[in-house]
Amino acid sequence: MANLIPSSTRTIPDIASIPRHIAVIMDGNGRWAKQRFMPRVAGHQRGVEALRVVVKSCRDLGVEYLTVFAFSSENWRRPADEVSFLMTLFLKMLEREVAKLHKNNIRLKIIGDRSRFDNKLKQTMQDAELLTANNTALTLTIAANYGGRWDVMQAIKSMLNEHPQLAQTFTEEDLQPYLSMSDAPEPDLFIRTGGEQRISNFMLWQLAYTELYFTDTLWPAFDRNELDKAIASYQQRERRFGRTSEQVQAKTEGKPSA
Ligand code: IPE
Ligand code: IPE
Ligand code: MG
Repeated sequence: MANLIPSSTRTIPDIASIPRHIAVIMDGNGRWAKQRFMPRVAGHQRGVEALRVVVKSCRDLGVEYLTVFAFSSENWRRPADEVSFLMTLFLKMLEREVAKLHKNNIRLKIIGDRSRFDNKLKQTMQDAELLTANNTALTLTIAANYGGRWDVMQAIKSMLNEHPQLAQTFTEEDLQPYLSMSDAPEPDLFIRTGGEQRISNFMLWQLAYTELYFTDTLWPAFDRNELDKAIASYQQRERRFGRTSEQVQAKTEGKPSA
């Protein structure tokens, strides 16, 4: 089976100073609104503005993949009116923004379990992906009704469905093509806004060697300057992938300077 995406646990990926792939947990919308005596949902609305700025910034910086957590498989536990507001906001955002994304040569992808979404939302998601499928400037992936455990489970089920003979013998490489992010390199940089220092069931498999960055800034207040700070922090990290610091230094010294 062809597998062009290198795994960080199998080979050592090439590192660039601008991360190729950034994954973001956009957290803190509710608190942002509460601080302003506004309803929580006003924070979600402003969160869309912040996302617009970050998408543009990533495109300008030459980031190839931006993956954002919009709704987790556990967010259904929220009050019904907030869930319903988020679904409507997602639909409106897709309807309003997709033409703009397309004009800017941005490919839109959506990952997560779509079975719980209504037909209109499912159709709009599919249309948006189809329209932007051949765009090349940036791949924006929105994780909606996504969970890292769901992803691994659905991948195993799909793989075994197609290749039952692999049940006793499958490897990382066999499984990889069935995971939601199979066509993207693993994230270089993970950003979580809103002060919480946890993964909350986001890309569990793919974050194996990702550099983690946490900020107290609430998502609606996250902007280009905040993104630059996260990238600056990333640029200070030594990515060892299990090796010693000396091995990493020897490797970079041996390379012709860019
Ligand atoms: C993140 O902001 C957006 C979603 C989870 C949909 P929150 O809604 O979690 O905001 P806080 O964490 O309550 O402030
Ligand atoms: C994670 O945020 C999910 C999204 C940002 C979509 P939550 O606010 O749901 O995470 P927890 O519950 O604080 O871990
Ligand atoms: Mg939250």
